[in-house]
Parts: sequence; structure tokens; C-alpha cells
Amino acid sequence: MFQRVSASILCLDYNNREVLKQAVSDVEKAGANFIHFDVMDGKFVSQKTFDHQLVNFVKDNTNLLLDVHLMVENPEAVIDDYIKLEADIITFHYEATKDPASLLKKIKDKNILAGIAISPKTPAYKIRELVKSGLVDVVLVMSVEPGNYGQSFIPGSAEKVAEIREFSRGVYIEVDGGVNLKNAKLLRRMGSNILVSASTIFNARNMKKTIKDLKGKPF
Ligand code: DX5
Ligand code: ZN
Repeated sequence: MFQRVSASILCLDYNNREVLKQAVSDVEKAGANFIHFDVMDGKFVSQKTFDHQLVNFVKDNTNLLLDVHLMVENPEAVIDDYIKLEADIITFHYEATKDPASLLKKIKDKNILAGIAISPKTPAYKIRELVKSGLVDVVLVMSVEPGNYGQSFIPGSAEKVAEIREFSRGVYIEVDGGVNLKNAKLLRRMGSNILVSASTIFNARNMKKTIKDLKGKPF
């Protein structure tokens, strides 16, 4: 399976455009596949980060694919902004909307990969029917409570990935939160094919090797 890595800019001083530009160029050279954007509204999670304008800025400064993770209430209200800028993946939280199916369909209709994220407390079976309906391209499994970078991986998240993999053939499974060189292998074995990381990538002494090791050997 071909493994991909999505570099989360959450741990950077992302409001400093020069810092952001440099970091994005570094991860691009080091072999990342996506830039991961944690959009937080101060409601779904208490933190507030950035919106589509920052994603647009990065878009103008990279060839990497854009992986948007919306941690917002009522994602319906902002989704058009990310469709317009032609993000490559748009993921919203199952817990944040009453009608995930319509939203997934709207994203898919624009030829953008449609993602559904679940927080640690949401069991895998909740998204089973949605996935089986064929509307989901990406399942994002949160392996920490949404909100901050640098948290510890919640045990049991890898088993959750395996459970989701059973009913999600041909779907990307993205794991987000506390991903490191120790748990990456297990996550890949359980069926994850996109690993998200902020701390492991940006704190690495050798970014290129770290990204390569997160991807592992193709099998
Ligand atoms: C957490 C975010 C993650 C975060 C990961 O709320 O969704 O994307 O940036 O950070 P690390 O890799 O440091 O756990
Ligand atoms: Zn994220």
C-alpha cells in the first residue's frame, strides 16, 4: 500500500508568513505529500486558529496537496471557501453537523476528496453506514482530543483504525494526533495510509529521514 504523510502546520508560528513559507518549502523538499490545516473556530474546540485565507496563502507557495481538517461547528457555513480554493481533501467532524451525507456529497461533486473525522470518543460503528454508502473518500481518526499539537497518542486508536478498515475498502484512513516513529508502523499495519504529524515532523533533526520512516516500506 502506498503511504502518504501530511505535515500539520499547527505547531508553527503560522501567522508569521516568512516562517510559514520556509516550513512549507522544507517539508516539500523532505518528501511530505500534503500540508495539513487544522481550522479551529473557538466553538467546536476552544482554540481558534486560522481560516481559508491562510490556506490560500500556502497554496500560492507550494506544490503540495492541501489537506483541510475543519474543527468547526456547522461546517456547512464555511465549506464553500475551501471548495473555491480547490483544496484536495476537505474533512469535517461527524460530531459537528446534523447532515454529514449532504456535506460529503457536496464536496465529492466538486471532485474534491470528502473526509469525515471522528473524535476519540466517537465509536467507529457510527460512520459505518456513511462509509458504506460510498460518499466517504477519507476517514480521519483523531488519536488525541482535538485542539492541540504535541499530545500523547491515545491507546486503542490503532485498533479503531483496524475496525474502520474492515468496512472501508478503497478509502483513505488518516490518523491525526500523537503520531510518531514508534506507533507509525502499527498504524500502517492496521490500515492507515495517511499519517498526519506536526511535532514529529517539525521537531525532527532529519526531516527527510523522519518522513521516509513515517511512510515505511511499501508493501
Ligand atoms: C490536533 C490536530 C492535529 C495536530 C497534530 O487537534 O488535529 O492535526 O496538529 O499534532 P501532533 O502531531 O503534534 O500530535
Ligand atoms: Zn488535524
